Parts: sequence; C-alpha cells; structure tokens
Amino acid sequence: MTTPAPLPTPVGSPHFAYRDGVLHAEGVSVALLAERLGTPLYVYSRAALRAAYEAYREGIGGRDVLVCYGMKANSNLAVLREFARLGAGFDIVSAGELQRVLAAGGDPGKVVFSGVGKQAAEMRLALEARVKCFNVESVPELHRLSQVAHAMGKRAPVSLRVNPDVDPKTHPYISTGLKENKFGIAIEEARAAYLTAASLPGIEVVGVDCHIGSQITETAPFLDALDKLLDLLDALAADGIHVEHLDLGGGLGIRYADETALAPSQLLSQVFERIDARGYGSRQIVLEPGRSLVGNAGILVTQVEYLKPTAAKNFLIVDAAMTDLIRPTLYDAYHGVLAVAPRADASTAVYDVVGPVCESGDWLAKDRELAVREGDYLAVESAGAYGMVMASNYNTRPRAAEVMVDGDHYHVVRARETIEHLLALESTLG
Ligand code: LLP
Repeated sequence: MTTPAPLPTPVGSPHFAYRDGVLHAEGVSVALLAERLGTPLYVYSRAALRAAYEAYREGIGGRDVLVCYGMKANSNLAVLREFARLGAGFDIVSAGELQRVLAAGGDPGKVVFSGVGKQAAEMRLALEARVKCFNVESVPELHRLSQVAHAMGKRAPVSLRVNPDVDPKTHPYISTGLKENKFGIAIEEARAAYLTAASLPGIEVVGVDCHIGSQITETAPFLDALDKLLDLLDALAADGIHVEHLDLGGGLGIRYADETALAPSQLLSQVFERIDARGYGSRQIVLEPGRSLVGNAGILVTQVEYLKPTAAKNFLIVDAAMTDLIRPTLYDAYHGVLAVAPRADASTAVYDVVGPVCESGDWLAKDRELAVREGDYLAVESAGAYGMVMASNYNTRPRAAEVMVDGDHYHVVRARETIEHLLALESTLG
C-alpha cells in the first residue's frame, strides 16, 4: 500500500482548505463544483471576500476612511454587490464600470472615477450619477471636464492624480508612480495644475490622489508618496486651495507564493500617524484596493486533458488557458497549482502546466511537482484578481463560468459562455 502524500497547503486564504483529502471552498467540495458546472471554472469564496474587507475595517478603526474597491480587479456583479453591502465605494475607470456599480446597487456618491482617457460621454454619465470625485490625470482632461460640467450647469468634483515619482531603485515593485509612465500629473507640475483647476468654472477641487503601483508588499513606497502629497497640501494651502480628502490609491500586495501580504492595519496606522503629525488628521482618506480584496478569494479550476512527456519537458495539458488567466504569460506571474484531490496512485513528476491555445506563451505554471492523471482537477490559486476580467475569446474559446460559494451553498454568478454568445454579434456579407 502506498502512503498518501502529505496534502499541500493552499496559500492566501483559510477559506480554501482540504477536507477528507479534497480541496473545499468553505463547505463545498471543489471536485463537486467542477463535476456539476464543468471547467474551466472560477470559484470564489464569499467568506474570503468578507474577511479581506474586514481587514480594512480593522485597520480603519474609528477614522474617516472610504474604501473604494478597485473593481477592475474583479467586476462580477455578485462581488460588487457584496462589497456594496459592506459599505464600500468603488474606483471605476469607465462608463461600463459605473453601469456595473449601479446594476449591483452600489452608491454612486462613493464612486471615484480614475483613468487617463475619460471621454466626454463618460464624464456626462458620471456627472448625472453624481459620483464623489473625478481623479483627473492631465490638464487637457481638466479643461474637457470643466466644459462638459459647465454645459450641464454643474461643477465636477475633482482630485488631481499626482505622480509622486517614487524611486523604484529603493523599492523594487511594478510601478505606475514613475515619471516615465502615462499616469497622473508630475508632482512638480501639480501646484500649477491645481491653480488652473481652481480657476475653471466647471471644476470644484475636493481632493488629492495618487496610485503608485500594484502588488506592493512594503509600507515605504506608500509613505514616500504620502510625504510628497502632504508637501503638496502645504503648498496648496498657501495658494488658498483646500482639499477634503486624500486618495492613496490601491496596490497592497497579497500572497501568491511566499510573500508576506501587506496588512491594511500595518499601512494605515503609519498613514494616520503621518497625517496627524502634519496637521491633516481631519482629512478623509480614500483607498482604492483591488487585488487585496479579491485576489486570494478566488481559484481557477481546470481539468487535466493530457500528460505529455517530451525529451525536454513534461507537459500537463489542461482545459484552462491564457485566455482564462493571462497573468502568468503576461507578467511572468506565479500562481500556485494544487491537485483538487491529491492521489497516492500516480507518480510524481515535474510539469509545465499549459493550455490548449496555439501559442507557446500559453502556460499557467512552470516546473511544478504534481502527482496527477488524465481527468484530474487542478486549482490555480490566488486567481480572484485580474483573472476573469482579463479573459478573452482567442481561439473562439467561450469564457469560463464563475461560481460563488457561501458556506455550504453555491451560486453560479456568471454562466459559462456558449459558442452562440460568441457568434451573436457577427455577420457575413451574404
Ligand atoms: N487605483 C488605480 C488608479 C489603479 O490603476 C489600480 C490598478 C488600482 C487602484 C487597484 O490596484 P490594486 O489594489 O489591485 O493593486 N493586471 C495587473 C494589475 C494592474 C493594476 C492596474 N491598476 C495584474 O494582474 O497584476
């Protein structure tokens, strides 16, 4: 008799765990979900979403902080509804995202509208919905927004997204807060841009905003950016410009492999300390977390089609692909891979886990030790953020279904696409 291999430990969330040798999402067997609903399948845990939000609440304590979920990370209506119920606002980047917030019952008064390329029609829609704030990323955008709002007899509430140029040499992370990228207004130009904003008839200055990057696991870059924002507030005060809130963006990192996630409380306690010390303690803080609210609350379940040993490598060909989860090939990102029901009766080998798409870049994981057979299910971990939202139909592959587990129950929150859905908008010349 072979002794069963020790069960692997899922990363990130206690709401995905083995029970009787089978991976469960809360109280529901992932194998059962895969059998009933098919694969590839995104599985989310409602309790994990709540726990992630709760971690922010704990960090916030009694302070005035608005969490605007960076919904680009996962914009499924059920996810949005959950956060809306918990009291969250939303960080949106398109009219489409605004329509999702409204469809999910979110409060537009808690919406901040980010993005470098807002169109006039999107501005109109957001003004009609009375969003909390436009995070304006350039002076030309400021002029356009003023015109649009003025024509509607309104004033648009505005923060300027400032690019604090946080030095990536001291903080190695994927950055959007650097001089050389397209986001925000350079910190040196921000004061002049605020004077312009204050002079425009359709603009009302309400805040200052920055977002320096994603998957950041240290507090230092955030605090460097905050210091620069506070210097700017001093300068603005001297110009007679008052801001009500400070938006520090998103970017808190999660655990994919062995990283230590940055706890909101860890960051927030230091943020409060600094704003208090500088005399801005009464300002509202806005945060735009995406990944840290949903990343570890989801997995992507896939089925093994073929084991393909070759002279150079062993391939595990599965039914999920880069079309379902593009992060590995796009960013060289690591996602854990677990056997849903680890078996003792298959020999262990080292595999590249690849999909069926006709691209060498179609891989999900490399060099993973697994003991599996054809037909087995695998779980790709930490796939709740930037997974389904970045999926495509390349190779005419219908997108995966999404299911939300809630205790011992599950709800299909997006049905599997069919080929009919994919062909519906196309026509031939007859
Ligand atoms: N606010 C703004 C203005 C942003 O651009 C983003 C993300 C967020 C908030 C949320 O950041 P988070 O808390 O999720 O780090 N697709 C990439 C990540 C792109 C992030 C884009 N902006 C990935 O899969 O790693």
